[in-house]
Amino acid sequence: MKKDFLRVFDLNQNEFTYLIKRALEFKANKDLHETLLSGKSIGMIFEKPSTRTRVSFEVAIYQLGAHPVYLSSKEIQLCRGEAIKDTALVLSRYLNCILIRSFYHKTIKEFAKWSTVPVINALSDEHHPCQAMADMMTIFEKKGKLEGIKIAYIGDGNNVAHSLIEASALTGVKIHIATPQGCEPSAEVIEKAKSFTEIKLFHDPVIAVENADVVYTDVWLSMGEEEHIEKKEKFKNFQVNVKLLKQAKLDAIVMHCLPARRGEEITNEIIDGPQSVVLDQAENRLHTEKAILEFLLAL
Ligand code: CP
Ligand code: NVA
Repeated sequence: MKKDFLRVFDLNQNEFTYLIKRALEFKANKDLHETLLSGKSIGMIFEKPSTRTRVSFEVAIYQLGAHPVYLSSKEIQLCRGEAIKDTALVLSRYLNCILIRSFYHKTIKEFAKWSTVPVINALSDEHHPCQAMADMMTIFEKKGKLEGIKIAYIGDGNNVAHSLIEASALTGVKIHIATPQGCEPSAEVIEKAKSFTEIKLFHDPVIAVENADVVYTDVWLSMGEEEHIEKKEKFKNFQVNVKLLKQAKLDAIVMHCLPARRGEEITNEIIDGPQSVVLDQAENRLHTEKAILEFLLAL
């Protein structure tokens, strides 16, 4: 049966841990895998902009010997109302795997329902599972372990937060989340994750950050929300800056999935500072995506 990767919880603990280990191997042996997916073609449908996801997947696909087919949703018949079902059924006849970045998670679920080849969520409004895998790989590289590590996530309870919560659940990472009132992560995600690990919700970032090994933030307004000025107002006290970072452990690392709004959720001083690991985190997208593609297509 085909496997999809629509949210982190599509994997179990062993699979998630295995994929991080495999990504570390890909990182250590950069050029050794060009025949792994040779002859395969992988579609990449994007309804929203992307720098990291698009480029890291295209390069990962190329380096594994396969052929990437980039499909802007504006340039295929989906934008003229062709049914998701028909698009998925037809593209499955040409392609060996399809990744999709979509406004609505339900679009990706509908696509996966009809696709006869594996589907990867390249970001939806609810989940960003490929990001969370690179995040956990980065924490493992920097801290030497995952179990028992404490993440403080400061900001919006969005797609990135949801996938980070699920990845924390699968790896024994404790996660403390500080959001403004009304911006909490989904109750469904919290409910599922809390049977695996410690998850605490706060409305005060200072308390959430206490003793953290990792301080993580993301934009206050995600793609598609740019006009929600009133939402942004709620985040004034949620900036990751020098004062807030002082509450974390001295050797805490700072993470951001990028793109960042410098001067909003994170200051220049912090994102460019010695505790920031955002570039390693971005690089690790390439290595984890190879592990994901191999898992879905070649194992
Ligand atoms: N982090 C991430 O997914 O970045 P892009 O939007 O540039 O792909
Ligand atoms: N939460 C952000 C993540 C971007 C990678 C967004 O959805 O725009």
